[in-house]
Amino acid sequence: MKRFFTALLFIGGTACAADLQPSKDAGPYVPSPQSVVSDMLRYADVNEKDFLIDLGSGDGRIVLTAAKVFGARGFGVEIKDDLVRKSNETAQKEGLADRVKFMKQDLFKTDMSQATVITMYLLPDTVNLLKDKFLNELRPGTRIVSHDYPLTGWIPEKYVQMDLEDKIEISGVTTTLIYLYVVPAKVQGKWSATMPPAVSKQPATLQLRQQLTRVSGSLRLDGRDVPLEDAKLRGDRISFKLAGRKGEFTGQVKGNSIEGTFDGKTPWSASLGG
Ligand SMILES: C[S@@+](CC[C@H](N)C(=O)[O-])C[C@H]1O[C@@H](n2cnc3c(N)ncnc32)[C@H](O)[C@@H]1O
Repeated sequence: MKRFFTALLFIGGTACAADLQPSKDAGPYVPSPQSVVSDMLRYADVNEKDFLIDLGSGDGRIVLTAAKVFGARGFGVEIKDDLVRKSNETAQKEGLADRVKFMKQDLFKTDMSQATVITMYLLPDTVNLLKDKFLNELRPGTRIVSHDYPLTGWIPEKYVQMDLEDKIEISGVTTTLIYLYVVPAKVQGKWSATMPPAVSKQPATLQLRQQLTRVSGSLRLDGRDVPLEDAKLRGDRISFKLAGRKGEFTGQVKGNSIEGTFDGKTPWSASLGG
């Protein structure tokens, strides 16, 4: 945090009258080095099917690179008028204006529901203030990439630390971190499950407990609770094993139902409630 504020002193500049007064200032203008931008987009596996939103888009480099190099669409939101103007001018110049745009808008009031990828380089407390908004607005499977600061309590899908000379000018140290998260589906609750006959011929009850990206639980079979092992939730994909038994259940969460296969072959399904 201290590193970021050091940067503020010599890069931040003063507020211009045309700048937007946000509900909260999420940090000064400090551009991510271009190599970090490329890494962020690569780790998130950004491609032409993606819609990327950069929260606090600065000079637009993340959204512009996502469109130019990776073929994505998207937008950036930014409070500083000159940066929004510059970003839209670059988009025009580079022939990207039909796929990306930049808006003078408060990131805390931005509708993110269209995103398949969110990127950000913001102050650490701000990143964490956004957690509920992410869970409420983003679809399961949406990737979130954060430069330098983590979403506390979320297990990153990927976490990379490197040393970069470019960062000395920005933060006074070479340390650079990139965190990749995947928004989890909501699975907490009691599910009424139809299991493969080899597991149970009767309807079974799948009890799932969830803490953000962590999932655990048990399957009630023939009056006995069998704990789940190796339970994982990645976006809308769930997988688990039954303690003491062979085989893996995989499935896709679609709102109030799960459909999947046991050992990649026999179907199983579950519906919430019941
Ligand atoms: C550290 S810079 C990151 C710029 C760009 N995303 C990058 O990585 O190169 C953070 C940007 O967020 C903008 N910002 C701060 N608070 C904001 C808010 N509430 N809404 C929108 N933008 C904000 C700042 O003006 C600044 O340009």
